[in-house]
Amino acid sequence: MKVLVTGGLGYIGSHTCIALHNAGITPVILDNLSNSSIHVLQQLHKICGQTFSFIEGDIRDQHQLEQIFKQQSFDAVFHFAALKAVGESCQQPRRYYENNVCGTVTLLDAMYNNDVTRIIFSSSATVYGEPQYLPIDEQHPISATNPYGWSKVMVEQILADNCQSDSQQLAISLRYFNPVGAHSSGLLGESPNGIPNNLMPYIAQTAVGKRAKVSVFGDDYDTNDGTGVRDYIHVMDLAEGHVAAFTNHQQDSGFLAYNLGTGQGYSVLEIIAAFSKASRQQIPFQMAPRRQGDIACNYADANLAKAKLGWQTKLTINDMTRDTWRWQQNYPQGL
Ligand code: NAD
Ligand code: WQD
Repeated sequence: MKVLVTGGLGYIGSHTCIALHNAGITPVILDNLSNSSIHVLQQLHKICGQTFSFIEGDIRDQHQLEQIFKQQSFDAVFHFAALKAVGESCQQPRRYYENNVCGTVTLLDAMYNNDVTRIIFSSSATVYGEPQYLPIDEQHPISATNPYGWSKVMVEQILADNCQSDSQQLAISLRYFNPVGAHSSGLLGESPNGIPNNLMPYIAQTAVGKRAKVSVFGDDYDTNDGTGVRDYIHVMDLAEGHVAAFTNHQQDSGFLAYNLGTGQGYSVLEIIAAFSKASRQQIPFQMAPRRQGDIACNYADANLAKAKLGWQTKLTINDMTRDTWRWQQNYPQGL
């Protein structure tokens, strides 16, 4: 089988290409390199022993997409391509809606015109907004608190309506909680541009001396130690979740949504402690004011994916910190 992987040179897409390859599924990567490097392709070769087909292109380019789908047939599209910075989305909402929402509609049009009926979509726990109960299951009310989150809510709605309009369509929305970690080879990992927004890459850059200290955004939340709690999931577990979703629903149709998380939350201070253990050094940190828009606590009820996909996470927080540290040491400046 062969699948088109949009955004496939990005953090999660590239790791998913490894899992697809290991499952005997051929990935063809489409990426505009707006937030990734072509060097990822050679790293994937070192890990998988072959160079995946790569097309430099944009999901918003209808003509290019039509050409791609006419030149080769695909069993599905794994759709990772998006802009994903929450803060940036608040400053540039139209850019986020144009890229993430309009881009997906253009992709769906090209898929429909060429009889590609299955899509696996990268969604986010951010579609749940402020948790009304925990753990969060797939029945939790949907909302968002920023344009990025709304772009994910909108795409999910578009996918659901698309499936409603055509009984042949299958759309699986995978709602990621907090992806972290790196491939165990140390050859592939997350390379955020500029100052990392996310906790784990910021800790890793502090550990390697690139940042002076970690700012802990708030120590007065209603959590065990007062710091924010999240459901961190190893990127390779996440990648395997994509393969499980695709292989378990090949004969199905309709819109389906699954949480991809561990079901366990860890606080900021617990993550710092785990990283200290992995890197065998104290990670300097300071308490700082809460970050605007942050929630106190968020973790998944991942039982639906376990029941329907036979998938559950295997890797621990120690695997996540160890693999992140190995990657950060190998490539302190990223790829
Ligand atoms: P990433 O930025 O590393 O990867 C996204 C890739 O898409 C990049 O390689 C970028 O160059 C490409 N891209 C962006 N716009 C494009 C376009 N118009 N045409 C073609 N390529 C385009 O991000 P990631 O962390 O790998 O996230 C992948 C997906 O998972 C995104 O949809 C993101 O919203 C979603 N997600 C990420 C997280 C997270 O914490 N990383 C959490 C939940 C959901
Ligand atoms: C985790 C915890 C912070 C940085 C974001 C997006 C979400 C998704 C995943 C795309 C929080 C604290 C962080 C720092 C800190 N991305 N923190 N110091 O905010 O849960 O989710 O990434 O879909 O949409 O919102 O992840 O890693 O930014 O924060 O104390 O320097 O770490 O307050 O409690 P978040 P994060």
